[in-house]
Amino acid sequence: MVKSINTRDYHDWRLQFTSENSSIGFVPTMGALHQGHLYLVQQAKRQCSQVVVSIFVNPRQFNDANDLESYPVQLEEDLALLSNEGIDIVLVPSIHEIYPVDDTSSLDMSSYAHIAQGLEGDHRPGHFQGVVDVVSRLLTIVKPQKLYLGKKDYQQLKVLEAMVRKEKFALDVIGVPTERAYSGLALSSRNALLSEDGRARASRIYEALQCAKAVALHGDSAEIACAKGKAVLQSAEGVKEEYFLIANRHTMSVNEVGSPKEWVVFCAAHVEGVRLIDNVEVFD
Ligand code: PAF
Repeated sequence: MVKSINTRDYHDWRLQFTSENSSIGFVPTMGALHQGHLYLVQQAKRQCSQVVVSIFVNPRQFNDANDLESYPVQLEEDLALLSNEGIDIVLVPSIHEIYPVDDTSSLDMSSYAHIAQGLEGDHRPGHFQGVVDVVSRLLTIVKPQKLYLGKKDYQQLKVLEAMVRKEKFALDVIGVPTERAYSGLALSSRNALLSEDGRARASRIYEALQCAKAVALHGDSAEIACAKGKAVLQSAEGVKEEYFLIANRHTMSVNEVGSPKEWVVFCAAHVEGVRLIDNVEVFD
């Protein structure tokens, strides 16, 4: 039976149930779990002796109060889903366990600030600062050997890889491919806020990304690939583009998209007022 525990109980559990030979796989989440999260959990279970999932809706990473307010919360359902996956321990810290009132510090991101710029970094000011703050604090509590993150949040993955290196956390970061609905729509907690019609419309985002990828692989420049992808997105009824860009997959720079192709096509768009992001990798 799955057990949701706070930070102190987690320390006790770790002392009691892990040994030097244990490998802890950690899947941090903000809850509202879907198949994409479960896919991360399944991968972690294959590779680690113990898997810990956290559920914490991190206020610091929301730059829009309405977005935080409308973020879906469904702890009971989440625990049931994790129980079905054979997860025993779910860390559900309180806000003050993560952010004690006397600790308002933020991590210094200056050495990898360039990765956190552009794309989400430009459109959600302060978002990545909030992400590195919470994940570094969670890692200090959980002390895992492997950290599992989805590639849907590709820039987040790159920022957190850089944070882990800079802060010298002794762990591997595993980037897990995006899980998609049959229509191609990337699975996201936010999809729960869409109507059936909205989900159908939102699947055009993937179509636009795939179009850009096909054009790029055909040998066209990033500029042309982007323009063709954007045209698909703009023809999609009910889908409002926020950005559609191609960037270097290591640096996240839109100016470093030469040869060989190590690109990612990124899109952020709004459907029925819900902000969605997705991406596809492009390799030569
Ligand atoms: O990707 C998410 O769900 C969040 O950004 C994370 C990594 C759990 C940090 O709050």
